[in-house]
Formats: sequence, structure tokens, C-alpha cells
Amino acid sequence: AEIVIVENADAAGELVSDAILSLVTRKPDAVLGLATGSTPLPSYRALAAKVESRAVDVTRIRGFALDEYVGLPVEHPESYRSVITKEVVEPVGLTPELVQVPNGDLATIQTAGDDYEAAIVEAGGIDLQILGIGRTGHVGFNEPGSSLASLTRTKTLTEQTRRDNARFFDSIDEVPVYCITQGLGTILRARHLVLLAFGEAKADVIAAAVEGPVTASQPGSIIQLHPHTTVIVDEGAASKLV
Ligand code: F6R
Repeated sequence: AEIVIVENADAAGELVSDAILSLVTRKPDAVLGLATGSTPLPSYRALAAKVESRAVDVTRIRGFALDEYVGLPVEHPESYRSVITKEVVEPVGLTPELVQVPNGDLATIQTAGDDYEAAIVEAGGIDLQILGIGRTGHVGFNEPGSSLASLTRTKTLTEQTRRDNARFFDSIDEVPVYCITQGLGTILRARHLVLLAFGEAKADVIAAAVEGPVTASQPGSIIQLHPHTTVIVDEGAASKLV
């Protein structure tokens, strides 16, 4: 992987937004893979600002979120559908119908994974996949033990991930237990992976992902199987790299 060490998340946002805009210049209907969580927010803000100041046409861009909670009403403010709408679609000006999020509705959950895979294939695959990484080493919500070949499916969140995400909810009891996530195999099919991590709390999982053995125990280590990965980290997240 190519490792880029930046001053902070805003500096990373400049690089990520430039990479997206250069892709969109070449391919106006580019397919973006969108992560939620705190890590990519400055990148989405930088993208929105540049789209506005340069009057870029983004209406044909397509998007696929990495994951969604299962059983949380889609209107809930913390559903990833709501978050993607508020943090990406609206500020950047994407066309809402062209941005998909896995469907966490219990009524259709049996087929939701296959449907999502089919939609990604139909779109021609993901051109640029933005990734964060959890303190368990998860990418998407592929917690340790996920098959390296896995496709979109339901998973159980670890206690640690539920505790980490409790900050978005009133209490940990409100954090869903189940999720639906692109698999590690799905992520590996994207043409370019951009993994972002900031702060010392991510140093161990970044070292494991970049320099450790490729193993299901460290899902982030799949980046080593991919021919085109860019890892953008600050000094804190880079501090345990050799
Ligand atoms: C989000 C996702 C997760 C997060 C990870 C880091 O769609 O799939 O893998 O990227 O949990 O979260 P933050 O960025 O909040 O530290």
C-alpha cells in the first residue's frame, strides 16, 4: 500500500476530495464507496466545498455505503441512510436516487445482501472505496473472524464496536446488535481503496493492517491483498508503523 502521513484529518480531506474530483473529471458517473463514522467527515466537507466553489457536476455520481444497522428504522437520525443523506448526499449535492445504502429492514433482510451485491455489479463496480477502521480492526462492519471472501451479509457487532458507537446514541442499549455490511470480498473488488485513520487509538490496527499478517483476525489486513490501496494517516495513527 501507499502510505501518506498527513498533519490532520482536514489535510487528509484535501487529498481525498482531490482524488474524488479527479476521478469524477475522468468519469462523471463514477461509483464511490462511502464509509460512515467520524473519520471521513472532513473529507466529505472538503468535497462539498470544492464542488460548490468549482461548480463541478456531481449529479451523475453513484454511491454505495459500506454498511447499515439492522432493525433501526431507516428514518432514525443515526441510521446510516440518514447519516449518508445528511453528511454526503445533501452537502455535496449528489442525486439521492443514485446513492444506495444496504437495507437493514428486517422484513427483507434475507435477500438484502444479495440485492446489494447485484446493485454494485449492475453499477459496474465501485471505483473508489473510502474506508475507516474500527478499534477491533473492522473495515465496514466486518468484525474479526469475517471471511476474507465474504460478500454483503448480516453480522453481529462486537461489544467494543457497540461501545465505540454509543456516542451517537443516548445509551449503549440503543445501539443495534446486528448490521448488514459489504463483505471483505466486496471491498476487495473496488478498484481503489482509500483507508483513513487518525489518532493514536487507531495505531495498533493500522500497524496490523499495513504490516501484520493477512488474517481474518485483523480484517483491515485485506488491504495487503489489493493492488491499489492508499492509506492516509496522521502521526498518531502511524505511530506503531515500523
Ligand atoms: C463505517 C464503518 C466502520 C467505521 C469504523 C471507524 O461505515 O464501516 O468501519 O469506519 O468503525 O469509525 P470512526 O470513523 O467513527 O472511528
